[in-house]
Amino acid sequence: MLSGPLAADDLALLRRAQRDPSLVLLEGMHALKHAVRFGATVDVVATPDADELARLLARLAPDVTLPVVPGDVEDGVWRALTGGRALPSPCLAVARRPTVDVAAMLARPARLLVLEEPRHAGNTGAVVRVAAAAELAGVVVVGTLDPWGAGVVRAAAGLHFAVDVVHVPDLAALDTLLAASTRPLVALDPDGVPLEDADVPVDAAVALGTERGGLSGALRERASARVAIPMQDGVSSLNLATAAAVLAYRP
Ligand SMILES: C[S@@+](CC[C@H](N)C(=O)[O-])C[C@H]1O[C@@H](n2cnc3c(N)ncnc32)[C@H](O)[C@@H]1O
Repeated sequence: MLSGPLAADDLALLRRAQRDPSLVLLEGMHALKHAVRFGATVDVVATPDADELARLLARLAPDVTLPVVPGDVEDGVWRALTGGRALPSPCLAVARRPTVDVAAMLARPARLLVLEEPRHAGNTGAVVRVAAAAELAGVVVVGTLDPWGAGVVRAAAGLHFAVDVVHVPDLAALDTLLAASTRPLVALDPDGVPLEDADVPVDAAVALGTERGGLSGALRERASARVAIPMQDGVSSLNLATAAAVLAYRP
């Protein structure tokens, strides 16, 4: 693959992407592949091993043509950029964060997932990934975790560009967002009514709680129904993303 030395401006953009909310840092080839496939504007691709990146793309994403020539990065710079972490594959890229059309998201005839105060970037990314795969209306993350953070985007394999992902700070902001739609709010709760006895409309906003504590009382009160996915006696709960997947694919 054609590559060349990484330009100083591109290196600066890579460094800035870690903290600039208008940018998205893509870690690894899968995130880059999905970003390109789903129309992201990618400004920079950097790699310490252009041949390996080319081999991976040829094998796993032959349909993808990179929109920019990858910039070669020396080992020391690569270590500084990655903080010494091993990435899933040898590339980092910077894309621009898209603006979500919230009205269009709410109007889409599919379920919307609402995550209340998720703590774990890996779980949140896995939810985005399943929402994209199942063509849900979107994912709304309530709380302090930035769903566009690099760890979430990596766990979602870059599928933020295939489904709308919205961040709101608190339940009051969620109320404002949902007020613009007629979607019923259904809470997923191990203490709710069994899923087989429940009606979860295909346009429901389906809320899931935080990993350790579950849903807040305030969210439970807002929900029109609380629904449980059956589990063997003694099992406390499913993983957040696993529970989301059950509802994502339920007719
Ligand atoms: C890891 S669980 C939280 C566990 C927490 N101790 C509780 O009791 O809810 C994260 C979220 O996934 C959803 N969840 C997990 N297992 C579920 C189940 N069997 N039925 C319904 N929702 C479930 C709930 O929304 C829950 O708040």
